[in-house]
Amino acid sequence: MNKATRRTVIAGNWKMNMTPSQTKEFIKELAPMVAGKDDCDIVLCVPFVDIAPAVEAAKGTNIKVGAENVHFAKNGAYTGEISAEMLNECGAEYVVIGHSERRQYFGETNETVNQRVKAALEGGLKVILCVGELLAEREQGITEEIVSLQTKIALLDVTAEQLKNVIIAYEPVWAIGTGKTATPEQADEVCGIIRGVIAKLYSAEAAEAFTVQYGGSMNAKNAAELLSKVNVDGGLIGGASLKTADFTVIVDAAQ
Ligand code: 13P
Repeated sequence: MNKATRRTVIAGNWKMNMTPSQTKEFIKELAPMVAGKDDCDIVLCVPFVDIAPAVEAAKGTNIKVGAENVHFAKNGAYTGEISAEMLNECGAEYVVIGHSERRQYFGETNETVNQRVKAALEGGLKVILCVGELLAEREQGITEEIVSLQTKIALLDVTAEQLKNVIIAYEPVWAIGTGKTATPEQADEVCGIIRGVIAKLYSAEAAEAFTVQYGGSMNAKNAAELLSKVNVDGGLIGGASLKTADFTVIVDAAQ
């Protein structure tokens, strides 16, 4: 297993935080702090209304911009929803799909996650697909089954060519926003399980090249150890991505 063959991606997921003006300020401050740190891709996934200001502020920097969700229809009567084409035209390059908060609070299922993944890929976006078990599922010993099922269904009808524009974030639900991080060994184990699913669904080569991030209370203190693990190719960061200093330390840990 050679980690050097894979791209490390450090992505912030801002969730429902930051206004457009705060977004511009944040990126103005962050850009010089991460300039030239090119051993990883640096992505900020931001609320829909922050995308255009973020793209504008990130012009000429190594910061890429993503959205936090996308609808599966091309267009139509879906009040309040946003399409891949809209995101694309605003300059978003990535989109988070299947976050546990969407699954938990907004009725997202493995099937709708799959539909969104396909729509995003057809619309030219790169996908950060989130999978992860609940605390009860970990305690029941079914983590492997849960993340394998989520991964398989999310990737139904996704071609090997399209897979090149997908990365997966392993986010144990019990570690999100709780300050309770998975141990590096737990993160490594489940990221490895996900890579194994990719190998079975596609090929050993595809799995070897596939980026699997860890997410869940990753911060300036624990990032280096998590990222040192062979199967952990980056992070999807919530709280710590809202502070330029903390986010920069995590980017540094990936260099
Ligand atoms: P926290 O880093 O705040 O735990 O959030 C993780 C997350 O949900 C990223 O998508």
